[in-house]
Formats: sequence, C-alpha cells, structure tokens
Amino acid sequence: MKTIAWVALLWSGSVAIAADSALDHELALVLQAARFSGSAGLQLESRLGRPIDRTLADLGRLLFFDKILNLHSDNSCAGCHAPEAGFGDTQSIAIGVQNNNVVGPHRSGPRNQRRTPMLINDAFFPKLMWNGRFFVPSGDPFDNAQGFLFPPPEGTTRFPPHDPVIRHLLAAQGQLPPTELTEAAGFTGTRRTLGAQFDPFDDGLGTAVPPPDASGSRNEPIRQVVLRRLNDSAPYRSLFARSFPSVARGQPIDFSMVGLALAEFQFTLVFANAPIDRLARGERGAMTDGQKRGALLFFGEARCVTCHAVSGNSNEMFSDFTNRRIGVPQLAPEFGVGKGNVIFDGPRQNEDYGAEQISNRPEDRYKFRTSPLRNVALQPAFFHDGAFTQLEHAIAHHLNPAVSARLYSPALAGVARDLIRPTSPVLPLLLDLDPLLANSRPLTLRQFWDLVEFVRDGLLDARAKSEHLCRLIPDSLPSGMSPPLFEGCPERGRNALDAALPDVMNH
Ligand code: HEC
Ligand code: HEC
Repeated sequence: MKTIAWVALLWSGSVAIAADSALDHELALVLQAARFSGSAGLQLESRLGRPIDRTLADLGRLLFFDKILNLHSDNSCAGCHAPEAGFGDTQSIAIGVQNNNVVGPHRSGPRNQRRTPMLINDAFFPKLMWNGRFFVPSGDPFDNAQGFLFPPPEGTTRFPPHDPVIRHLLAAQGQLPPTELTEAAGFTGTRRTLGAQFDPFDDGLGTAVPPPDASGSRNEPIRQVVLRRLNDSAPYRSLFARSFPSVARGQPIDFSMVGLALAEFQFTLVFANAPIDRLARGERGAMTDGQKRGALLFFGEARCVTCHAVSGNSNEMFSDFTNRRIGVPQLAPEFGVGKGNVIFDGPRQNEDYGAEQISNRPEDRYKFRTSPLRNVALQPAFFHDGAFTQLEHAIAHHLNPAVSARLYSPALAGVARDLIRPTSPVLPLLLDLDPLLANSRPLTLRQFWDLVEFVRDGLLDARAKSEHLCRLIPDSLPSGMSPPLFEGCPERGRNALDAALPDVMNH
C-alpha cells in the first residue's frame, strides 16, 4: 500500500515537473520572440538621465493632493486619480468639481466625460489621454527633440523642441489639469461666455473663473490665478524654494515648476515588476501554471498582443498607443444640475466620438487609445466610460464585440445608478470594427479563465495595491486645507514621502 502511494506520488510529481518545464520553455520562447524583457520599469532613471529628485517629487505629491490648484478648492488630482485604485478612478466616469468631498464608491457630484486612467507607469506612455491627444512626436516620452504636441491653445508652441526645462511629456501635461473647468476650475463667472446652458453650474463659491484672454482661451488666465494662490502661500513658497533657486531668490513660482513637480511625483509611481516581468527575467516560479497558459494565449492564439503591444515605443506597457474602434458600449450621464457637466456628442448628446473629436475625421469616430494593461486588476471599472465593472466582461467583450454590445445592459453591468440610462444605438459602434479583433479562434472556457488569470494576476505588481499607495496620502497639506475622505484608504498614511517610498519602491 505504502509503496504504491509512493510510486504514485513520484510519478505525478515528475509529470508535473515535465509539464511545468514544457510550459516554461514555450513561454520563454514566446516572450523572446515578442522581445519582452520584463525590465522596462527598471530603466526609468537611466532614461531620465538622472536619479529621481525626491525633494521635488514630494512637493509634487503635496500639490497632487492639495485643493490649492483648483480655483474653488473643491477637488485635487487625487480626487479623481485615487490612491486606492492605482491613482485611477473610483467611478465609471469621473466626477470633478462640486463633488461631495468623498473619493470612492460614494463619491457624488456632476459627472465629466470619461473614466480617469491610472497614473502608475504613465512615465512610459508616449501618448496620453483616451484619444492620445497629448503626445510626443518622437514616440519617446523622455525625448523632447521634437517637442510635445497638445491640442489648441497649447498646440505646438507651448512645449517646443529642445526646451531645457520641459523635457518629459508628463512635465508638459502637468500644466493642463488645473485649467479644466469641469475637473478643477469650476464655472463661477463663466455664464457670459459659455451661454445660458451653463447657468446651473454657477456654484456660487466665490472665486470667479477669469475671462478668456485675447486668444479666446481661459487656460493662461486660470494658471495665473492658481499661481497667485501658490505665491501667496508661505509654506509653498519655501517648498518651491528648496527645488528652484529662482524662487529662493524671491522670484515668483511659475507654472512650469508645477508641471515639473507633478511629473516628478509620477516618476515615483513606476510599478512594472509583475509576475510576467519576473518570469521574463528568469525567476522560475514567478507565475502560476494558469497565468502561464493565459500568457501563451495573450501573446499567441488570442492575439491580444497585436494591440496590447510590448515592443518598441510601447515600452512594455501592453499598449500600442493607437486609437482603435472595438465597439465598447457608450455610457453618458444626463446633462444638468448635479448630473453631468459635459455636453456629449451625437444627435441626442449621449455619445463619445473619441478620437474624432481631435482629428475631425469621421473614420476616427468611437476610436479610443488601446488601454495599457499593467495593474488593470486595481481598477473598479473598465474601458473609457467604465461600461463594465468586471474584468472578465471587459475581456469577453473583445472576443465577440457584436454580441457583447447588443446584450449590454448598464444595470446588469453594475454601473452606478445615475449611469443606468438607455444607451446610444449599438449598430454604428459595430461598423468597421478594428480588423485586428477579428480572426481569433473561439476560446474554450478553460482558456478564457486562464487568460483572465493572466491579465488579472500576471500583470499585477503587488506594490501598487491600495495598502501601499494609500500611505502616500499626506496627513496635512501646505495650504492648510484637508484632503478629502478616501473610502478605500481607512488608515491614512504617514506624512513624508521618504517614509513610504522605501517600501513602495524597493520591494
Ligand atoms: C475630474 C477628475 C480629474 C482631475 C481632478 C484630474 N484628472 Fe487627470 N485625468 C482625468 C481623466 C478623466 C483623464 C482622461 C481624460 C481623457 O482622456 O479625455 C485624465 C488623464 C490624465 C493623464 C493622462 C493619463 C493617461 O493614461 O493618458 C494624466 C497624466 C493626468 N490625468 C494627470 C493629472 C494631474 C497631475 C492632475 C492634477 C493636477 C489631474 N490629472 C487631475 C481626470 C482627472
Ligand atoms: C484591435 C485591438 C485590440 C485587441 C486585439 C485587443 N484589445 Fe483590449 N483594448 C483595445 C482598446 C482600443 C481598448 C480601450 C477601448 C475603450 O476604452 O473604449 C482595450 C481595452 C482593454 C481592456 C480594458 C482596460 C481598461 O483599462 O479599461 C482589457 C482588460 C483588455 N483590453 C484586454 C484585452 C485582451 C485580454 C485581449 C485579447 C483577447 C485584447 N484586449 C485584445 C484594443 C484591443
């Protein structure tokens, strides 16, 4: 009896080892063919050409959490880019100004247009935003030899080639959010120029949004008001003085400094050491067999990697950073007081035309940037409008977009109550779907769940989980204002970035 058991054990053990190494071997070849090194995240400082500046990053962290950048002091970057969700949204569609000071499932207030993307690893993204409208022509976010391109009014002039100061795409991007009326600046005083339909949003909070300048844009006038707030703050002046000699000499804080600090904070948010990276770097046992089988599908038969790319300018971020049409159902909040403060596209103002908004080309309608997939399991909702709240449903959508979109119901998908409304017609969404979606063979149920396991766990860097990122919430802010309530961060963090960073960065 005993011997039989022993033999059985030995036999099953060796079969398992054989199967295991066959799987490992196959995956190693596939990763090699895809030129996936698993070390992209380790190269941040070498690509920056310098170490991260901890002092500047800590200033960026304070600005990120502080309502001082928002004219009405009712939101901050962190209100939408929440630490409990990889510095992404806690909602399907972002809620900006006039919120209830809660960050989490119970956040309420007028909705904007799209879901807030996670900021972790965005140092490596060559195109920002759901339609890639902020981008770097060289394809390398660390290279400003061709400048950075933004839609008007910034256009091609604000961030010119070889600028000695604004050298990374994020340092340029950081100059934009405070100018957004719906996200940060608010509407008070905008009635005359925006028309009567915006009356309801006059929040009566006092600080008027400055009128547009001669070019018709409000961006620069808003920046000037924000700068006045910062320059009036003694604590901020001394913090900026630590990083910028001109401020130490008594010169004013300028907006490029704000952008630089916010970018530096985001450089500390690189979490690209997932099981797939560790395996690619030779760590046997980094992945479960299910994750490995899922990875083989992702890079092989299921053809996910054709769009969720890892080579070249994708910087191993699992996106080709190209706008594509994959027929995601469209959610749009109702426009009106406390409901939604963005007017959507289409005859019934309930559609999002995506990339067409920038290119004005009808063929770009409903196209959105291929989502970078690292750490996607941290998100409470998926796609540009958070139409799905379960990762497996978002993946299943790709396998049969027509069926998925036709059967889609916001209520069954589990989105927030105010987003449960009749959706726009499905048929136009499904015309001319991206050809790269087609042709994949149907997966078996087991293959499907392997694929889910890989995307959920194989791409997750455990250091990006909420218990770590919540520790970056400052206990107090230089403006004296208090941070909002972060529902997903019950134990709020320590005050110094350095106290939290060794654990967050050096695991
Ligand atoms: C009202 C919520 C809100 C606030 C406040 C906000 N953001 Fe965002 N952020 C978004 C949304 C939504 C997008 C995507 C917008 C789109 O694609 O149209 C975004 C996009 C970004 C991106 C591009 C990410 C990517 O994957 O392309 C960066 C970087 C960013 N925000 C940084 C910031 C910083 C820094 C602040 C504070 C100064 C800030 N945001 C404030 C909602 C917000
Ligand atoms: C034709 C290109 C293409 C292919 C092939 C593709 N995707 Fe996508 N994927 C996209 C685009 C585009 C989006 C964003 C769409 C949107 O938000 O409207 C996306 C979004 C996602 C998301 C949601 C991420 C988020 O942040 O919300 C997941 C998960 C995902 N894809 C997984 C997969 C998997 C797994 C496969 C292989 C079965 C796959 N994709 C194949 C283009 C593609």
